[in-house]
Amino acid sequence: MNIKHLTSINDLSREQIEEIFERADKLSSFYVDSNKPSSDSVFIANLFFEPSTRTRLSFETAAKRLGLQVLTMNENTSSRVKGETYLDTVLTLEAMGAKAFVIRSKDEDICNQLVETLSAIKPHIHIINAGGGQKDHPTQGLLDVYTMQQHFDSLTDKKICIIGDIKHSRVARSTVQVLKKLRINNIHLIAPKNLLPDSDEFKDCFFSEDLKTGLTDADIVMALRIQKERMQSSDIPNTEVYSEQFGIKSERLSLAKDHAIVMHPGPMNRGVEISSELADSQRSVITEQVANGVLIRMAMLDLMLN
Ligand code: CP
Repeated sequence: MNIKHLTSINDLSREQIEEIFERADKLSSFYVDSNKPSSDSVFIANLFFEPSTRTRLSFETAAKRLGLQVLTMNENTSSRVKGETYLDTVLTLEAMGAKAFVIRSKDEDICNQLVETLSAIKPHIHIINAGGGQKDHPTQGLLDVYTMQQHFDSLTDKKICIIGDIKHSRVARSTVQVLKKLRINNIHLIAPKNLLPDSDEFKDCFFSEDLKTGLTDADIVMALRIQKERMQSSDIPNTEVYSEQFGIKSERLSLAKDHAIVMHPGPMNRGVEISSELADSQRSVITEQVANGVLIRMAMLDLMLN
């Protein structure tokens, strides 16, 4: 398989997604031999123009486990503050030897724009979207569905509930796109009216403004972070009211199936969209999502660079 860039799940076929998952399985116990010098000829650049813990550090961990070198740029102390463009930043690091660029930005189109420009002048460069605006977070979508698959023989008949700020969520968009590519269709989106997206954007998903209806008989329950930084103040009255109506907690999860798993892409607002008790319970697979994030990112880098 040849994956040149990953700007969106739309870049991938069903077969490519399955191959990424198979590669992640194979890499689960792979660590480069630390007694041998790691490859100094290939390095990736982490360009995070928005805060991140999981994505940035798991790309770094993934690269190191594969024996790649990693450069991480801090935007606040870089020449970006003097007005240097994204393109010039990439070209500068490419001149130093970077081959792949992992990019997070508020600008949802920056990765596509870079791919378009660079394909003519630097066709060997790889671009990976590590979260762009509200639109795409492809490696998060992949790791979410990879984690779901580890808990069930098949997802085809499973009721998958995504609860919370779906309207502003690049995670929800990418996770649903992966599910759809794998022809998994029993997807329920649950939120207050102001946080539900347009139905055109999430075709064939079930929409609900009622948590109890949505949670009933669920197999998989994923809570999303309330994104105060992207939200109009009028979208929800306040976080207390939101938590009362849409926060998931143990007693509410009794509506779901006994085997239901609880997910959250992180970072969590404990006590708002998810109770601490549930986040730390046996049903929670939140730290498995983090661990799988490393494997999925290893798989992506391995398939792109080798
Ligand atoms: N899930 C996620 O993207 O987390 P970070 O913002 O910490 O990378």
